[in-house]
Amino acid sequence: MEEFWRIVGEDGRIEPRDVMPEDYRASLVRQIAQHAHSEIIGMQPEGAWISRAPSLRRKAILMAKVQDEAGHGLYLYAAAETLGVDRGELLDKLHDGRQKYSSIFNYPTLTWADIGTIGWLVDGAAIVNQVPLCRCSYGPYARAMVRVCKEESFHQRQGFEALHTLSHGTPEQHAMAQDAVDRWWWPSLMMFGPHDAESTHSEKSMAWGVKRFSNDDLRQRFVDMTVPQAEALGLTLPDPDLRWNEERGHYDFGTIDFTELFEVIKGNGPCNAERMATRRGAHEAGAWVREAANAYADKHARRTA
Ligand code: ACO
Repeated sequence: MEEFWRIVGEDGRIEPRDVMPEDYRASLVRQIAQHAHSEIIGMQPEGAWISRAPSLRRKAILMAKVQDEAGHGLYLYAAAETLGVDRGELLDKLHDGRQKYSSIFNYPTLTWADIGTIGWLVDGAAIVNQVPLCRCSYGPYARAMVRVCKEESFHQRQGFEALHTLSHGTPEQHAMAQDAVDRWWWPSLMMFGPHDAESTHSEKSMAWGVKRFSNDDLRQRFVDMTVPQAEALGLTLPDPDLRWNEERGHYDFGTIDFTELFEVIKGNGPCNAERMATRRGAHEAGAWVREAANAYADKHARRTA
C-alpha cells in the first residue's frame, strides 16, 4: 500500500490497475454509484415538464438538459465499472434500496418555475460539490467530473435565465418564481449531506483525497455564492437568519432541519415511492434493449472467434 499512499500524498491519480485499499475501492463504488443513480433519477422531476414547457425554445433546452443527465449517469456508471463492479449489479442495488440516490430528487416539480429553480439552485449546488471532485484521487472519477461540471455550468446558467425571466415577468410569474425558491432552498442546502460531525465517511474520504472539502465548507461556499445571485434575480431566500457576517467573511444562515434529510434518505420524502416505481418500470421496459444488445455482442464475439 506504500505506493498508494505515495500517489495520494503527491496529489497524483490512482488508476484502475493500481493497488488500492479495499475500503477505498468500496467507498468509491458507493459514492460513484450513488452519484450515477442521482443523475438518472434526476431526469424524472424535470422530464415531467418537457411536454409542458412554455415555448419551443424552452422545450429544446430542457430536452437537452435531461439528456445531459442521462449522459452523466453513463460516464459515472462507466467510472464505477473500472473498480470491478457491473452496472447491472449497481442498478439492482438501486432498485432494491441497497444503494441511495440524492435526497433532492424526491421533491415534486409543481410549476414551470421549479424547472428554473432546479437549474439555478440544485445544479448550482451540484457544481459547488463536484468541481473539487475533478481533483479527486481516483482518475476515472476525476476525469468524468470535468465534463459533467462543464455541462452543469450550462444547466445552472439556463436555470438562472429562466427564473430571471419569470421574476421580471407579471406579478403572477414573479410569485410563482418566489414560491419555487421557497420550496427548493432548504432541500438544496441538504444536498451537501449532514453536518461534518455527523458525516460517517468524510474523515476517511478526505484522507484518501476523494473529498477535498467537508460537507459544511461546501454548503457555506454555496450559500455565499447564491445570496448575491438571489439579489440579482429579485427573489428572497426563505431564511430570516441569513445575513453577512463581517467577522467570518461569510453569510450566516439558519438551522437546517436534518430530520427532514434523514427521513427523505430513509424513503419517506414526498416522491420517493413515485421515483422508484418509475425507475423500476423504465428498467423493466428496457429489458428487450439489453437483451438485443447482448445478443448482438455475442454474435460479434462468435464471428471474431
Ligand atoms: N442524499 C442522499 N444521501 C445522502 C445525502 C443526500 N443529499 N447526503 C449524505 N447522504 C448519505 C451518504 O451517502 C451516507 O450514507 P451511506 O453511508 O449509506 O452512503 C450518509 O448520508 C452520511 O453522509 P456522509 O458520510 O457525509 O457521506 P459522503 O461522505 O459520501 O458525502 C456527498 C455525501 C457530499 C453527497 C458525497 O457522497 C458526494 O460528494 N457525492 C458526489 C456528488 C453526488 O452524488 N451528487 C448527487 C446529486 S447532484 C446531481 O446529480 C445534480
